[in-house]
Amino acid sequence: TNDNFILAIESSCDETSASVIVDGKVLNNIVATQSVHEKYGGVVPELASRAHQENLIPVVQEAVLSAGISLDQLSAVAFTRGPGLMGSLLVGVSFAKALAFARKIPLIEVNHMQAHILAHFIDDPKPNFPFICLTVSGGHTQLVLVKDYLDMEVIGETQDDAVGEAFDKTAKLLGLPYPGGPLIDKYAKEGNPKAFKFPVTRMPGLNYSFSGIKTAVLYFLRDQLQSNPKFIEENLADLCASIQWTLIEMLQIKLKEAVKQYGVTEIAIAGGVSANSGLRTTLQELASKKGWNLYIPKFEYCTDNAGMIAIAAYYKYLAGEFSSYDVTPLAKMKI
Ligand code: KG4
Ligand code: ZN
Repeated sequence: TNDNFILAIESSCDETSASVIVDGKVLNNIVATQSVHEKYGGVVPELASRAHQENLIPVVQEAVLSAGISLDQLSAVAFTRGPGLMGSLLVGVSFAKALAFARKIPLIEVNHMQAHILAHFIDDPKPNFPFICLTVSGGHTQLVLVKDYLDMEVIGETQDDAVGEAFDKTAKLLGLPYPGGPLIDKYAKEGNPKAFKFPVTRMPGLNYSFSGIKTAVLYFLRDQLQSNPKFIEENLADLCASIQWTLIEMLQIKLKEAVKQYGVTEIAIAGGVSANSGLRTTLQELASKKGWNLYIPKFEYCTDNAGMIAIAAYYKYLAGEFSSYDVTPLAKMKI
């Protein structure tokens, strides 16, 4: 047949993932999540690389098997070149290079941040160009003006921590296990978002800063715990709701400014934090009030996954954008 099957690999952080796409249709999205990091309260890079080594071949085998093809039917191999953890990226890049070289097929490098955005083109409804994408994850917080599949401009980003990091680090201060973001979301549902006041940091332009809230929560808890050692357990829901409210407030302020500045009302959100129910509700209300079209991908395609690498690779394949066999990973990589 003339079908163009592309195998895509994602290994930038702590998820090992493989996906097969044919003519723009993602056939599967196999993800092996690494649980080894839980007890350390964060991703340990060296352990992540080792787990990728163990997981990658089984994950690829499952993707190829479930697509009902064999490796010799592949038209190209795609991989995440960056940004990410160097050791983790190296595992995926080396595998992709070896496979492409052995099969004499093209190699396609994908930018992880571009892929988070292009995840919106896996399923319907798809945003129309130009749109503004707010990418919120454990590693990144960016506002991107998306002019075309492969033509994007970062118009604002965090100058320090990512918003997911702020969720996880404040959760840790509350004694919650890693990753704490989903737990803050869960407890916040029962709490009062106005119970405690934390500073809403306003950076110049469309930029963000999320490191201040961590320190504010740290000192606030230290003071409260001095007079009441049970302060956290007695106020967990209110603390979570107040922290979450502050983070969402900072996210939406700059999003509204971006909309105003660029006159674009097609709005997308991407990345793991877009699972946050408070953020979803806030943005949905904002969208209906302001007449925006809001797009949020399925959760499976919000967190790190190879399906998004596959869809990005498909557009690069169509554009004929291939890499040479001596390509190397980039821990930092611009959109
Ligand atoms: O995109 P992702 O899976 O990995 C990165 O590229 O970082 O995002 C993971 C981040 C973590 O910080 C996690 O705590 C956060 O997304 N997260 C959430 C929720 N679900 C995941 N944060 C807040 N509320 C949630 N429901
Ligand atoms: Zn990511």
